Amino acid sequence: MQTVVFSAIGQAMQCLQRPELEPGEGQAIVQLQAAGLNRRDYWITQGKYPSIRTPVVLGSDGAGTVTQVGPNVSSSWLGRQVVLYPGIDWGQNPAVQGPSFRVLGMPDDGTFATSVAVPDESLFDKPAHLSWQEAAALPLAGVTAYRALVVQGNVQPGQQVLITGIGGGVATFALQFAVAAGAEVWVTSSSTRKIQHAVSLGAQGGFNYRQTGWHKELLESCGPMDLVVDSAGGTGYGDLIQVAAPGARLVSYGSTAGRPPELDLFKVFWKQLKLIGSTMGSPDDFAAMLDAVHRHQIHPVVDQVFSLDDAATAVAHMADCPQFGKLVLNCRI
Ligand SMILES: NC(=O)c1ccc[n+]([C@@H]2O[C@H](COP(=O)([O-])OP(=O)(O)OC[C@H]3O[C@@H](n4cnc5c(N)ncnc54)[C@H](OP(=O)(O)O)[C@@H]3O)[C@@H](O)[C@H]2O)c1
Repeated sequence: MQTVVFSAIGQAMQCLQRPELEPGEGQAIVQLQAAGLNRRDYWITQGKYPSIRTPVVLGSDGAGTVTQVGPNVSSSWLGRQVVLYPGIDWGQNPAVQGPSFRVLGMPDDGTFATSVAVPDESLFDKPAHLSWQEAAALPLAGVTAYRALVVQGNVQPGQQVLITGIGGGVATFALQFAVAAGAEVWVTSSSTRKIQHAVSLGAQGGFNYRQTGWHKELLESCGPMDLVVDSAGGTGYGDLIQVAAPGARLVSYGSTAGRPPELDLFKVFWKQLKLIGSTMGSPDDFAAMLDAVHRHQIHPVVDQVFSLDDAATAVAHMADCPQFGKLVLNCRI
């Protein structure tokens, strides 16, 4: 089988041949058609991720066909077209992942390969209306967006929702799920082109987070937000507190721009705000997300497809965030 191996921080990932995988107890082998990229893959190659272990095959997202099953895995999976839940060992508590939870693609070998070995709990039928590339774009970003917006954020029809950094893979799914839920969705971005793209997906409009005072413009033209879904944090987090309506929820699932340097706690308690953290999602959240994708016939936004051989170029491409939505690798060679 062909793999793309990340050997050390500062070294480019390399294509290497490895022996074919054999399924262990409770595992299945999936011959991959496509793999999705996430900012996690970029952070790891940059050495900006906790507990990096090498050598490793990165990649948390994949879609393909089950070719082998190990002991104690139902043979009914053989030949099925699947999309992979990107976590391992969430645990029993729906409110939070357990201590052995980890993400596929470090420390366990992931999907930047022609095949992957996964626990059978990771197997879910691929939504029939999606192409292989769309299906591979879905798992990590889709479940993160669904949990942040629906499970933690409790989005409701007619509510005003702000989604920041709309070019991001997770943010784009959050927009699609929020529009499907009947919310009035506003976005922020560094790019006018990306705001226009968001409007074509159902957003009401958007604001450039790099322009000082954008939050005042938003309050004047749209009024306060009932729900804010953010992955940036940083100095701009204070603006999100400003645009939040009394009683609003602010859900954070990332901190791309770093820690907020200061928090106006007076506004937090006076406005009775709920600051909520969210990370990926449980297998039940994943199943609910797939159900929403099916019911609303949502198509993930795939910005660009690279060949597996070009995985290193694809990961490096994420450095300046030029994409709108997801980058995908074609794993058939
Ligand atoms: N907790 C979890 O389970 C989880 C899961 C997935 C991702 N994450 C984290 O969430 C973040 C986004 O992940 P992703 O995979 O969606 O990344 P991505 O596809 O690479 O998107 C990154 C986007 O972040 C936006 N951004 C950058 N700086 C910003 C700022 N100062 N203010 C607002 N937006 C800003 C940009 O939007 P524009 O291009 O529109 O300007 C950019 O396109 C990363 O930090 C990632 O590590 C966490």
